[in-house]
Amino acid sequence: MSNADKPFHNDLVVVTGAGSGIGRATALAFAANGARLVAADINLAAATSVCELIRERNGEAHAHQVDVADAAGPGFTSTSIARSARLVGVPEAEQERVHERLAKALRRRRFPPHKVARAVLLAVLQDRPVVPVNTEARVTYALSLVAPRALRALARQGARRSPFRPGS
Ligand SMILES: NC(=O)c1ccc[n+]([C@@H]2O[C@H](COP(=O)([O-])OP(=O)(O)OC[C@H]3O[C@@H](n4cnc5c(N)ncnc54)[C@H](O)[C@@H]3O)[C@@H](O)[C@H]2O)c1
Repeated sequence: MSNADKPFHNDLVVVTGAGSGIGRATALAFAANGARLVAADINLAAATSVCELIRERNGEAHAHQVDVADAAGPGFTSTSIARSARLVGVPEAEQERVHERLAKALRRRRFPPHKVARAVLLAVLQDRPVVPVNTEARVTYALSLVAPRALRALARQGARRSPFRPGS
């Protein structure tokens, strides 16, 4: 396919958290489909590394360091988030043990970030603002539409009973 035939030819796409996991896979997928990329991440070295990869593949990409305050997410996806996330409410001494358990659980999920990236690209093409990408995301999204209060109650319950809390 020539560059001009690609679906995002000449589009400028900004991906936050582009240095790793879902953001990285999404940045690479947009670039492979013709977009010019701004890869934004709090970790400039990681954003720069994804841009280098895009340029090696004859794409155009620019790295920027940004700190985003908040982000929406998919269902469970097998990325390195378990190791990089700071676990709120978990004492320092417990962080590593809980990180390991979370990382194992995500590996078992076997849902790679490139599947989320593909869903993001499709969502943009179809102009859909919300796209649940795997089973748990679909169930959660359906529940948020038909019973938002029940979902909030479940989330509160889950937070209290989370297996990733210390002492469980
Ligand atoms: N992986 C999952 O199962 C899962 C589930 C639900 C939600 N999410 C959400 O999806 C998003 C991506 O997750 P991932 O699994 O790819 O994680 P990841 O750890 O692999 O990648 C996250 C990237 O975001 C960057 N980042 C972290 N804090 C930032 C900040 N304040 N400003 C800018 N960049 C920042 C990191 O440097 C890293 O490159 C996150 O918002 C996460 O909370 C992921």
